[in-house]
Amino acid sequence: MSCDIHDIGGAPIIIGAGVAGLMTALHLAPHPVVLLSNAPLGTEACTALAQGGLAASLGGEDGPEFHLCDTLAAGDGLCDEATVRRLVRAAPKAIKALEDFGVAFDRYFDGRLRLGLEAAHSHRRIVHAGGDATGRELIRALIAEVRCTASITVLENVEARRLVVEDGGIIAVLAVSRTGTIVLPTRRAVLATGGIGGLFCDTTNPPGSCGHGLALAAWAGAEFANLEFVQFHPTALDGPRRPMPLVSEAVRGEGAVLIDEAGERFLSETPGGELAPRDVVARAVWQKLADGHRVFLDARQCLGSRFSDRFPAIANVCREADVDPSVDPIPVRPAAHYHMGGVAVDGAGRSSVEGLWACGEVACTGVHGANRLASNSLTEAVVTASWVAESVAGTSHARRRRVCSTFVPARPDPSCIRPVVSTALGIIRDGDALRNGVANLLPIAAGNVAASDPALVALMIAMAALRRQESRGSHFRTDFPRRDAQAFPARLTLRGAMQGA
Ligand code: SIN
Repeated sequence: MSCDIHDIGGAPIIIGAGVAGLMTALHLAPHPVVLLSNAPLGTEACTALAQGGLAASLGGEDGPEFHLCDTLAAGDGLCDEATVRRLVRAAPKAIKALEDFGVAFDRYFDGRLRLGLEAAHSHRRIVHAGGDATGRELIRALIAEVRCTASITVLENVEARRLVVEDGGIIAVLAVSRTGTIVLPTRRAVLATGGIGGLFCDTTNPPGSCGHGLALAAWAGAEFANLEFVQFHPTALDGPRRPMPLVSEAVRGEGAVLIDEAGERFLSETPGGELAPRDVVARAVWQKLADGHRVFLDARQCLGSRFSDRFPAIANVCREADVDPSVDPIPVRPAAHYHMGGVAVDGAGRSSVEGLWACGEVACTGVHGANRLASNSLTEAVVTASWVAESVAGTSHARRRRVCSTFVPARPDPSCIRPVVSTALGIIRDGDALRNGVANLLPIAAGNVAASDPALVALMIAMAALRRQESRGSHFRTDFPRRDAQAFPARLTLRGAMQGA
């Protein structure tokens, strides 16, 4: 295998080609930028699986203040209010920017946007496309735009494996292609690599979502925030397919209810019912399953024969599983879905490492706190991409250094750690299971095997979960079931996690 140095003229490098990476590249135009994609564009991005849509206060009765309140309430005391305020104000304009890039959102005949409702939103504000194919439409339109933007160089089937850091700053990205190792000298890199669902057995994410960007940032010495907060979606289709198909919260927004095998509704006494915050609904579904019941989402009354018009993609995956949602309740169970924690970034997306930014799910901006409000993730990725692009464009790329280190680790494979992660870091946690998880992950993380990077990421999450001795949002510990009076964001580095383990 060869090792080539690619001179990219000091252009910034964006690692990851989901909505966050594509939007950052587009916002940077006409500044030259290199976009790295592990696979052919559009084939592996988690964004493409997104169903619900983007939250933006565009309805007549709605406004950014309501969107702010709903986001803060769901975040359970851990949101950064100033950043949320910026986000909700920018969200309506971000929808317009997407339309300018060719995204076709669902509209009524009179031209008004169709707005969906999802859990813990006080108003209808979910902008969607193709009924339940919002992610697919975003990816389609943004890739088309990227392909015809001359300032963006796309390198497909190229996977970043290490960031080279000298004197506290990025000097290169080491990557592998099908033919060998590539050194890409740069002083500016943006992580847009998505999340960690692939570390769990049951997930709605593609299997490649195993914390790749977190591992890159960890080895570069970056600081992380709130890593313990992993969101489980309450209603993934309970069947053999992996990743587990989502049955969008928007279905509950249209009135579908959760029932057990006897047809009993079990959330009617809970404030908010089926539209309570996602962590509350996920725990209730988990408890019902743990008590030996089955759980179904029943859309027969509210949608009936209209189901496949409003949710065509969900109707299709149900049909594949021999379920017809117009006449059958849909079997569901929770699945790992979204990581609220990530690389700690400031309001411009800058990490603690000079020349390293993060955008989208890999970043922790403070918007989601302890529990993300539905459909705020695509909104955050789109809005913060413009903040990141502005900051990257305004940062000098100075003199480049000669790169000496070319150690490239093996392609990450999380297969062997999934059962460990699922047991230790599931919906319900406790100190013993977390300590056991750490003991199992440590030798893998310290070894020179393909699972070492994913194990390292899982280890940092487990250490963060052990340190948070309270229950808040998506982080629930049976040994510390109460919520502390005050919420503290948590910070961690790789070195801190390894010293504590
Ligand atoms: C969904 O459609 O239920 C998922 C949307 C999200 O995760 O925000």
